[in-house]
Amino acid sequence: MAVEQRELAVSEVLLEVKDLRTQFFTEQGVVKAVDGLSFTIEKGKVIGIVGESGCGKSITALSILRLLPEPRGKIVSGTITFYPPDGGIVDITKLDRHSPEMRRIRGRHIAMIFQEPMTSLNPVYTVGDQIIEAIQLHQNVDKDTAKKRAIEVLNQVDIPDPERRINEYPHQMSGGQRQRAMIAMALSCYPSILIADEPTTALDVTIQAKILRNMRKLQREYGMAIMLITHDLGVIGQMADEVLVMYVGRKVEQAGVRELFLNPLHPYTQVLLKSIPLIGLRGKKLVPIAGSVPSPYNLPPGCYFAPRCPQAMDICSREAPPEYEAEPGHFVSCWLYK
Ligand SMILES: Nc1ncnc2c1ncn2[C@@H]1O[C@H](COP(=O)(O)OP(=O)(O)O)[C@@H](O)[C@H]1O
Ligand code: SF4
Ligand SMILES: [Mg+2]
Repeated sequence: MAVEQRELAVSEVLLEVKDLRTQFFTEQGVVKAVDGLSFTIEKGKVIGIVGESGCGKSITALSILRLLPEPRGKIVSGTITFYPPDGGIVDITKLDRHSPEMRRIRGRHIAMIFQEPMTSLNPVYTVGDQIIEAIQLHQNVDKDTAKKRAIEVLNQVDIPDPERRINEYPHQMSGGQRQRAMIAMALSCYPSILIADEPTTALDVTIQAKILRNMRKLQREYGMAIMLITHDLGVIGQMADEVLVMYVGRKVEQAGVRELFLNPLHPYTQVLLKSIPLIGLRGKKLVPIAGSVPSPYNLPPGCYFAPRCPQAMDICSREAPPEYEAEPGHFVSCWLYK
């Protein structure tokens, strides 16, 4: 109890997403990519966002950074409240996405890394020049100081011989090293939030594990918050404190990582867990998830998971379930917990 109270007292909300709705307006109709999503990102915590491909994870991230291909895709309602560490409060949904304020948030406060490092790295400049430029854009330091900082972050992400490697072009590095260089660039400005969208999905398992361990170590050292997006519950188990499970643009379950793995409540989370090889459960038979994610143009009424749900009831195909707090801090949107 005493420990819990202390944790509550020091928990510090950096970002609060409330009832976020992001939609795409296409020739075939409207895609509700994010459909009423709420969650918070807290200082020093890793929140994992998990779900099958197409469930709205990346669009959630791009909404927060206002990097959507507007006006085709845009935030139609909800708020994204950011509490900058240097004070103040700002609703990101209300900003002009090209404004200096939004650019400052993107570069300085909330950094993002992608599955494909070449999304962030420019092939025609050396890795060092790109990190130095990012540092000088957001911090008032001379070039020598920025260079020292660039070498320091490359060293922190385990790039060997950073004094020399800083002069290399991205194509001279391996895939794993490019991924590390992108993480270094993101860290170089001491962001308070790092959004990592499938950061290691393209890498082989050994390199992936190494990079994740390194990210976790740096996250603790920097006291940074990470929003980690992945379709891989194994990565969540290794990295996250809190887990949010998404299905077709909606949150279906949220809990602490231990609680979610030991006591998954939503039928979708349960099948997701059975479909993924987990440490310690290697001998167990994996069960693929039956059926497929419904087309965003043709969503079933009620619970979107109903057509695939082994426990579906009458009400499920009529009405979307509200969110219940089944256990303290454990939220689930499913009629089974009414
Ligand atoms: N540029 C776009 N135009 C139309 N629909 C899009 C676009 N980008 C994403 N979507 C749709 O938004 C939904 C969420 O996509 P996304 O967030 O990329 O999923 P994921 O969870 O795999 O990251 C999907 O139905 C996807 O088809
Ligand atoms: S609301 Fe019904 S269909 Fe949806 S997950 Fe729960 S039991 Fe299954
Ligand atoms: Mg994605």
